[in-house]
Amino acid sequence: MTEASLDPARIPRHVAIVMDGNGRWAQRKGLKRTEGHAAGEEALFDTVHGALDIGLRWMTVFAFSTENWRRPLDEVRFIMNFNEGLLLERREELDELGVRVRFIGRRGGRVPGRVRRRIDETESLTERNKRMTLTFAFNYGGRAELVDAARSIAREARARRLDPDKINDKTIARHLYAPDMPDPDLLVRTSGEFRISNYLLWELAYAELVFTDVLWPDFRREHLYDAIREYQRRERRFGGVDE
Ligand code: IPE
Ligand code: IPE
Ligand code: MG
Repeated sequence: MTEASLDPARIPRHVAIVMDGNGRWAQRKGLKRTEGHAAGEEALFDTVHGALDIGLRWMTVFAFSTENWRRPLDEVRFIMNFNEGLLLERREELDELGVRVRFIGRRGGRVPGRVRRRIDETESLTERNKRMTLTFAFNYGGRAELVDAARSIAREARARRLDPDKINDKTIARHLYAPDMPDPDLLVRTSGEFRISNYLLWELAYAELVFTDVLWPDFRREHLYDAIREYQRRERRFGGVDE
């Protein structure tokens, strides 16, 4: 099935994806885990093109978590180099497509300086694009994001620019990495795992969750459309009742 069977009036505003299963994809083919990460590039770009074709405005993909540093050093090194190369080779294409590329996560710490520079350059290059915002969660953890928000709120309170008794949902949302980003309507996780893995903990509060067995390197736009079709069959309530 193609995008033809999607309801154009109910395309989610924001889709978040956990791109999982690269290692298992490679192992099943007798390849090294890192070859699975490399094969994920085609999956990502087919999905981005498919998302643009249906007018999706926000897409956020989990590329590297704050916990992924626990992996063997050569895999971590590969992922860092791979992401740097991907930005270098593909940022013009994304720019021409009208995609604004952004990053959420901790930029300091163990992220190599050259990767950080590539991230900054890509954000500047594409910052005026309006068609879609593609956000990479990179060195990202949902708890780290909330810790960082708490620190920044506490600093404002200490400077007496904020009254602690007036802290509410909006205060916290304003201190997240991308305060202008709407909450995801739909979360897709590949590879048959049924967990959040510290992704967008605050932002996913009312997202619809769709899980698929497809391993990330095999994921294509049709799988995105399948997930959106599933989303369109769901009834969202946000804690209320239907009248
Ligand atoms: C997702 O694939 C990519 C990253 C976490 C960087 P994995 O590498 O987690 O693949 P599996 O889950 O081990 O198959
Ligand atoms: C989540 O996948 C992080 C990314 C896809 C980048 P993981 O493979 O790291 O998550 P767990 O370890 O299965 O929970
Ligand atoms: Mg995994």
